[in-house]
Amino acid sequence: MKKNKKVKPTIIILLGGTGDLAWRKIVPAVYNLYLDKWISEDFALITVGRGELTDAELRKHLKNGIDTFSRSGKSKPNDWSSFSKSITYLQGPYSDVATYTEIDEKIKGLEKKWKTKATKIFYMAVPPKEFEVIAKNIGITKIAEDVKNSRIVIEKPFGHNLESAVQLNEVLHSMFHESQIYRIDHYLGKETVQNILAFRFANALYEPIWNRNYVDNVQITVLEELGVEKRGNYYETAGALRDMIQNHLLQLLCLIAMEPPVSFQADEVRNRKVDILNAIRRIKANEVKEVAVRGQYNDGIIKNKKVQAYRKEPDVNKHSNIETFAALKLFIDNWRWQGVPFYLRTGKRMNETICTVTINFKPVPHKSFPSQCSEGWQSNSIILNIQPKTTITMLFQAKKPGLDMILHEGEMVFDSNETYASATPEGYETLLLDVIEGDATLFMRADQVEAAWEVVMPVINNWNENIPTDFPNYKSGTQGPIAAEKLIEKDGHQWTGTKKKI
Ligand code: BG6
Repeated sequence: MKKNKKVKPTIIILLGGTGDLAWRKIVPAVYNLYLDKWISEDFALITVGRGELTDAELRKHLKNGIDTFSRSGKSKPNDWSSFSKSITYLQGPYSDVATYTEIDEKIKGLEKKWKTKATKIFYMAVPPKEFEVIAKNIGITKIAEDVKNSRIVIEKPFGHNLESAVQLNEVLHSMFHESQIYRIDHYLGKETVQNILAFRFANALYEPIWNRNYVDNVQITVLEELGVEKRGNYYETAGALRDMIQNHLLQLLCLIAMEPPVSFQADEVRNRKVDILNAIRRIKANEVKEVAVRGQYNDGIIKNKKVQAYRKEPDVNKHSNIETFAALKLFIDNWRWQGVPFYLRTGKRMNETICTVTINFKPVPHKSFPSQCSEGWQSNSIILNIQPKTTITMLFQAKKPGLDMILHEGEMVFDSNETYASATPEGYETLLLDVIEGDATLFMRADQVEAAWEVVMPVINNWNENIPTDFPNYKSGTQGPIAAEKLIEKDGHQWTGTKKKI
């Protein structure tokens, strides 16, 4: 929504402030908001961590992160010098109430200096095992009791399964009001993801065809060339279904499938999204084999470089059965989407890095042109490229120039990056500013997270009970296991929107 540049004094309490996420993503995002004057002059970043560091050492570390990862490039000396004055370090264990009383003293000191109440953002950039203890201690010490001005930001993974997500929600709700809790899904901060809302709900053109009468199938694909990198410890407890589908891909599905909201008020949008999650047909245990595919990468070649198998990655069990690829076929039981398959797939160490949503339309009801006119007839598709391309492409049939009537596939492309000169903010900038402004539209509400877990739980349970016998079952640098091709081919479709099969 339209942002307001006159923001209130703000204090960000960054728990896990010496960690990787803070270093790569959060602090560079705060810095860019500061440069673009979205953050008040009265601003403080209280960085909380367990290690022993001086303010100067912490600032040096964070500057290095900004210089490496900020979209605006290396920091300029003057900018950095004014920004860094706002940063302080607070050392303390998360389990110790004293850490929070110290935070409280700092907050009170700043509010006294600024002679006003600040917006206080408690950002948990910590491993999930710390979420509960931090939430409890913030609750016990009452440092976030000012409901209107205090917000809690919580990173994914939100729970390990439905049960733990419900429990975490209970802990949070025992300490905070739901309106204070901002559960981040960084995909929702991506410009091109937000553009799905604009495309669907700011144009009258697509709505009449955006349903089961015209749409044949929908495909949501998020592929990465990267492997598990240094995150073996975490990934061994997650896998592709938990890491990507439960959150990012289901959120994309909601944006594609939701009913038009009456307004862009946070709860209205979130209600429409949760309607979709609730309408997704629950998969029965005996159907999992038919609708879900898992895979794990073997060694292979990506961009001419040899890469190793998942089981050889650091901190990974050499007999691991964790999936690094997952594909699902889902149905949405409502009037708009009855009978339309939604195919979702995601994987690491694939042959390309891409995030794309393809809406494939039904064929024309009658082919007036004789078959010799067509060079490979294709039905219409709309391809929404989320990354790395930022395009919306429409595929249609056109006449190839010449004396013969030959039909050929044409495309109309809108490229957001080429069309607009303005710099694209990082997802974390968008989301952080929304937290500062108290706009929860792009954040997950408790019921949304739980509904998303409900969708994937039958698959998780079935996969836990049935150890895969064919892992590793795809080579790095390919499009994943053969079974994923079969999943869609048996319905008469093919994966679209990505490079051709290799
Ligand atoms: C994270 C996952 O949520 O999203 C990672 O934990 C994944 O495993 C990442 O690599 C992908 O995000 P992006 O923005 O690079 O597509």
